[in-house]
Amino acid sequence: MDSSLFYKKLEKITASGISPRVIQSGQGAYLVIKGKKQLNFCSSHYLGLAVDHRLKKAAISAIDKYGIGTGYRTLAGTHTLHLELEKAIAKFKKTEAAVVLSSAYMANCAAIQTILGKEDIVVSDELNHASIIDAVKLSQVKNKFIYKHVDTKSLEDQLKQASKLALTPKSDGEKPIILIITDGVFSMDGDLAPLPEIVKLAKKYNALTMVDDAHGEGVLGKGGRGIVDHFGLLGQVDIEVGSLSKAFSVTGGFIAGKKVLIEFYNQKARQRLFSIALTIPDAAAALEAVNILQKSDTVVKKLWDNVNYLKSEFKKLGFDIGKSETPIIPIMLHDENLAINFSTKLFELGVFATPIKFPMVSKGKARIRVIPSASHSKEDLDLGIKAFEKIGRKLNVI
Ligand SMILES: Cc1ncc(COP(=O)(O)O)c(C=O)c1O
Repeated sequence: MDSSLFYKKLEKITASGISPRVIQSGQGAYLVIKGKKQLNFCSSHYLGLAVDHRLKKAAISAIDKYGIGTGYRTLAGTHTLHLELEKAIAKFKKTEAAVVLSSAYMANCAAIQTILGKEDIVVSDELNHASIIDAVKLSQVKNKFIYKHVDTKSLEDQLKQASKLALTPKSDGEKPIILIITDGVFSMDGDLAPLPEIVKLAKKYNALTMVDDAHGEGVLGKGGRGIVDHFGLLGQVDIEVGSLSKAFSVTGGFIAGKKVLIEFYNQKARQRLFSIALTIPDAAAALEAVNILQKSDTVVKKLWDNVNYLKSEFKKLGFDIGKSETPIIPIMLHDENLAINFSTKLFELGVFATPIKFPMVSKGKARIRVIPSASHSKEDLDLGIKAFEKIGRKLNVI
């Protein structure tokens, strides 16, 4: 294909794309978009830390002291802040150790690619996050078993097949690894992985377990320690991946687990060897966020008070909020145009909540995904609820 044809093809594909709303303020309870104040009803800054003065102060003081840039962790880029952050995460998560990478996307790639080879075996929930799917592709694993979403019967069926396959040694004579991978919180529906059953089945079939808890860190469990703590499974999940960009409101991702596993990632993960470390302000702000949660669960409690109130008001009004068990509240509308129209009308009333449609969710499952945060007051939530009620009635949804 010559280059003019190539660019024409790209033009055709991108012509129907929707440009995102541009945010002109910090991400607190409200945002400014097109110069207008909007209630922030859809960001993943669950704890309101994106505009928290303590994080700002930590970043500013670190910049004053150390500047901005760092480097490559294995060359000249491991800063004392990186080590402090990893230590603080491991302490918070109650794991032996942790390693920080530039995002949870990178952490998933590192977590999977570094330990699996072509002849190992993956058993994965069908709705796992795109970064897990990409990470599995990157590992070039040939034997992938996909189980029905959160369905433990389907998981066991797949594990039976996987364990039969694992009887044949790899070409190096070793036994293949079976790795079960699941999101902790599924980011479109807000439902939870059945982790206790997954751990039980992993023991039965000699599999390792990995949970991507990007949306559970800072949200679930005691003081926001994540889904493993939520289910009382400390020490029983081999690999925990978390994001520093959601509840912690900065950027970065981490893998937490046993010391020997983390040391293996430190030495072998290509995403750590060949990609830059967190900058100084990112590391300092993330460290502050983890320390805030280590000391107090006040913001986590406030988040859940807001979530419970909002869910109960939405239900009272007759909205279908799906099967959410977390702060991710899908307002199920099913029809794509209805979801887009609903979101546009909310925006006119000063409420920012984006429509979610294919390919993010399957066709016929369009929705508005509402996410409240700890930064909302009851008055803020009531303002949002009123807007949903008004539009819901107007569009015959309730
Ligand atoms: C389940 C899950 N895993 C990983 C990620 C990637 O997180 P990050 O933005 O830190 O790369 C996301 C982000 O949306 C996610 O929802």
